[in-house]
Amino acid sequence: DVEPPASTAAAPRHGGPEPALFSWEFATDPYPAYAWLREHAPVHRTRLPSGVEAWLVTRYADARQTLADNRLSKNPTHHAEDAGGRSRTGIPGERNAGLMTHLLNIDPPDHTRLRRLVSKAFTPRRVAEFAPRVQELTDQLIDGFADRGSADLIHEFAFPLPIYAICDLLGVPAGDQDDFRDWAGMMIRHGGGPRGGVARSVKRIRGYLAELIHRKRADLGDDLISDLIRASDHGEHLTENEVVAMCFVLLFAGFETTINLIGNGTHALLRDPGQRALLQAALAQGDDALLESAVEELLRWDGPVELATWRFATRPLTIGGQDIAPGDAVLVVLAAADRDPARFADPDTLDLTRRDNQHLGYGHGLHYCLGAPLARLEGQTALRTLLTRLPDLALAADPAELRWRGGLIMRGLRTLPVEFTPVGAR
Ligand code: HEM
Repeated sequence: DVEPPASTAAAPRHGGPEPALFSWEFATDPYPAYAWLREHAPVHRTRLPSGVEAWLVTRYADARQTLADNRLSKNPTHHAEDAGGRSRTGIPGERNAGLMTHLLNIDPPDHTRLRRLVSKAFTPRRVAEFAPRVQELTDQLIDGFADRGSADLIHEFAFPLPIYAICDLLGVPAGDQDDFRDWAGMMIRHGGGPRGGVARSVKRIRGYLAELIHRKRADLGDDLISDLIRASDHGEHLTENEVVAMCFVLLFAGFETTINLIGNGTHALLRDPGQRALLQAALAQGDDALLESAVEELLRWDGPVELATWRFATRPLTIGGQDIAPGDAVLVVLAAADRDPARFADPDTLDLTRRDNQHLGYGHGLHYCLGAPLARLEGQTALRTLLTRLPDLALAADPAELRWRGGLIMRGLRTLPVEFTPVGAR
């Protein structure tokens, strides 16, 4: 995590000198720096805190094109700096645990085959049928603090909801889900750091999943893991290790992202009384249409994934007039693209009624988020239930004191203290 400096200098503003990337101010509010880059250095080579060099792509049109460019590979062996094993794909510990063969690290034709197989199991219908369970989980978590009048919405709500949801969907037995919660907590507390704890956690998750898959193979049920096993039995091949890596990527691609959707989204609404009142009024009338566009706008305005996961040039190419050499790493800055004034009118304004909102929060092209229907379900259920059950929900901290995680790929709050009239007191 990024720590605050002794004295907090003002963040650089649009038009000023080149902003410092990856500082404390940047982790708190990266948008002024991204505005500067979009205007002055739209495809910008930078040295990341890890020491690895990468190109940052910040304009919407370039970002969209880059995400769909097949001259860029997802396979880290194409990275010129990969020889030392330094670069990573956004999921800590996966290399050491032998979990590299998943969707976010592979290209066609392997990607096409795996994505087709998982899409047979992880269908929009399965997600739609899961809606009552997401509502139940959401209510249970709110029950845990509703009488207290205060809560940390990250730890008590946004963090547990997606982990329990994806465990249920996969078919992890209820009695084992708290272990996942602990492992996942370890992953986000230390995400990406070279600490032994993360590596151990990932290895334990891997071991657990391999054993669970083995048991399910003997006794298939009505869950996602069983469907993944069934999919592999029909003609095309899905190896044991591919099933394990698939479950792993579903867990981890769907976990911190959804925490941040709920956290960043609630934070944005609590700081914008006008937009929040608009949404609450619609919900009070049972109108969910605004809720749908609200979640999309919250994804655009302050989305969970700040930078899309890594891409590596396999051939010489040009992005936004900038030559990129084979072996170079390219990071598409979704958060910058989604505030590009060349694509979105008044991009820094949160407008829950925004139409024509083709944001890049879920990516674009072959690697477009597989879990988008589940993320939408969880985000909509969480916001609707919070604002309906706790109508006077308010931030219980000075916004300037809120701490952001400051990881490379994700953008999210470490804590979100709130207060409200206790439910029993009404
Ligand atoms: C891919 C965002 C929730 C599973 C992606 C990508 C983005 C993204 C930007 C593309 C990455 C790239 O191109 O480098 C989000 C956001 C979410 C969310 C903002 C929440 C609001 C989920 C959930 C799941 C999930 C709940 C599953 C349970 C995946 C998978 C991929 C992916 C498996 C890889 C797809 C592929 O490579 O073909 N997500 N995601 N995501 N997401 Fe999500």
